[in-house]
Amino acid sequence: MLSCSITGTFWVMVLLHAVTAISNEPDKNSNPRDCKGLQDLPVEPFPPFDQPTATVMRYRKQQSVNLGSWFVHESWMTPSLFEEASGDKVSEIDIASGWNSTTCAREVLETHWETFMNYSDFSYLSRIGINTVRIPIGYWSLGPKYCQGTPFSPYADVYHNSWSFVVRAINMAGEAGIGVLVDLHAAVGSQNGQPHSGISDGHIGLFDNQTNIEKTLAVLTFLTQQLCNVTNVVGVQILNEPHNCRELIGFYDEAISIMRKVPGAEDFPFYIHDAFNLQEFSDYVASRTDFVVQDHHSYFVFTSEDAKKSASQHKEDIETWYSDLLAAAFANQRGNLVIDEWSCALTAESLSQEPDEDAARRAFCMAQLNTYSNTTAGWSFWGYMKEDCDTDPGWCFRSAIHDALPSDFSPYMSSCNPPKPFVAGLLDRELDVKSVSLVHHRPEAIHRRRGRREAGNMTAEEQSSDKGYRDGFSTAEDFCYCGSQLGFTGQYIQTSIEALGPGVIAPGTESYYRAGFTQGLADGEASSN
Ligand SMILES: *[C@@H]1O[C@H](CO)[C@@H](O)[C@H](O)[C@H]1NC(C)=O
Ligand SMILES: *[C@@H]1O[C@H](CO)[C@@H](O)[C@H](O)[C@H]1NC(C)=O
Ligand SMILES: *[C@@H]1O[C@H](CO)[C@@H](O)[C@H](O)[C@H]1NC(C)=O
Ligand SMILES: *[C@@H]1O[C@H](CO)[C@@H](O)[C@H](O)[C@H]1NC(C)=O
Ligand SMILES: *[C@@H]1O[C@H](CO)[C@@H](O)[C@H](O)[C@H]1NC(C)=O
Ligand SMILES: *[C@@H]1O[C@H](CO)[C@@H](O)[C@H](O)[C@H]1NC(C)=O
Repeated sequence: MLSCSITGTFWVMVLLHAVTAISNEPDKNSNPRDCKGLQDLPVEPFPPFDQPTATVMRYRKQQSVNLGSWFVHESWMTPSLFEEASGDKVSEIDIASGWNSTTCAREVLETHWETFMNYSDFSYLSRIGINTVRIPIGYWSLGPKYCQGTPFSPYADVYHNSWSFVVRAINMAGEAGIGVLVDLHAAVGSQNGQPHSGISDGHIGLFDNQTNIEKTLAVLTFLTQQLCNVTNVVGVQILNEPHNCRELIGFYDEAISIMRKVPGAEDFPFYIHDAFNLQEFSDYVASRTDFVVQDHHSYFVFTSEDAKKSASQHKEDIETWYSDLLAAAFANQRGNLVIDEWSCALTAESLSQEPDEDAARRAFCMAQLNTYSNTTAGWSFWGYMKEDCDTDPGWCFRSAIHDALPSDFSPYMSSCNPPKPFVAGLLDRELDVKSVSLVHHRPEAIHRRRGRREAGNMTAEEQSSDKGYRDGFSTAEDFCYCGSQLGFTGQYIQTSIEALGPGVIAPGTESYYRAGFTQGLADGEASSN
């Protein structure tokens, strides 16, 4: 696989910052554990924005993993962080308010942020064809200022360096050529009442509380401002698994309209979770024209109905009616659909109905992988790493790939033929002049393929169709140089038509461009393999 890694010297900076974080300043508040008072870690810069690379990363088909329990903690994934937590010991706030002091809680968390993932993990993921990661964060991850006026305000000191660590994570991923979806997993007030939204009292306090709404919108605005010009950030997810209340659509409308107004965010992808309502939010995305992506989550362990079904029945469902449902939702809204949480987990009850439990679990897992690869623009496995990973191939990617999942996720069997350096010739407005000589053979090849007539003799429909075909073909090649395939095809075509303008694509002939592009893309992908 040819990677489209971003060159730069940022990894060196990452290491330098890491060293300064473990300083040995004596602790001024004496506490039983003798925790070190940690120094502030500067927020490192992002590499200069590179539009063509960002376009590839944002529009390509995603093979992704979730970096769950790195910045938003779940007790079943990282139980060691909860050993001396307070209260129910189930959510982030129990960690922040536990460990006897904010100094100790801060030390525990910073050590975790430092060690849970490192550059080797990202480089490994890149080697096996994982091109994106989804990183759940909480509003506290933005730092002490964003804790004010929330239940985290007494523990704000714990989060002095949290944003620096999030930025470091994004840069480490970028260094390995991996895109990052930054996912606001925990909104102020909580969007779902679940412990994975940071709270332990079960209260859903976001939607009916104007203060919490405003604070959450400020968080989302900050994220958009900081990240829309970062090459390897593929989008911001507005909420994770919100409660499907009446106010949700209004909240999304308001959030997107504010975030879109951030300079540079006109085409920046915003992901919305569909509150487990595939159809309603497919219609919502269909009603918009901007780059908004529907995230649907797919689990088969949480309801009693699911627990009763056998593993092979689940497999059959996934391959039949469930696949059809996803395909319909995808087609309904120009293909802006991802499955950004799924796993290979099944209940003991589902497995116990099988003569060979391991084989049944593997078949179930592969059925999901194939279905999501075939019917959506991308998927993200939950989660990459957890404690006791080795014994949990259902939930832990690092052990699932030695079990049910393949060892390589690259869409192409071999690199593009003939191998070429990554060329960022995407939309015409972004065509890199240097790339032209490398792709010089293309028009002739396409001319032969199509038996194209001279431009002056073509109707407007034929011209749009021809232009679409050529763009589709070269787009397939451009993404292939990067080891990827186009994923958000409908959105990409729409953006291209807008960028080309009515002088190139005559009004009324857009559907010819679309059809030509789709055919050219398919031919380009076939010839690249
Ligand atoms: C917290 O305090 C208790 C009681 O003083 C002590 O046993 C425990 O070791 C302390 N834990 C930490 C992390 O300091
Ligand atoms: C990265 O983490 C792994 C454990 O997950 C460890 O074996 C390795 O030494 C770490 N590498 C660096 C550079 O810290
Ligand atoms: C809104 O939530 C905040 C906590 O974030 C709370 O202090 C405040 O009382 C709530 N307001 C209302 C009207 O419930
Ligand atoms: C993003 O970059 C564009 C182009 O340089 C610039 O106009 C815009 O202000 C930037 N946006 C932010 C939020 O920094
Ligand atoms: C997609 O669908 C095709 C045809 O139904 C099937 O052969 C293939 O295995 C599926 N999976 C992938 C990943 O392409
Ligand atoms: C295109 O049209 C011109 C006259 O307008 C004609 O001379 C020429 O043969 C045509 N070419 C083709 C390929 O049809």
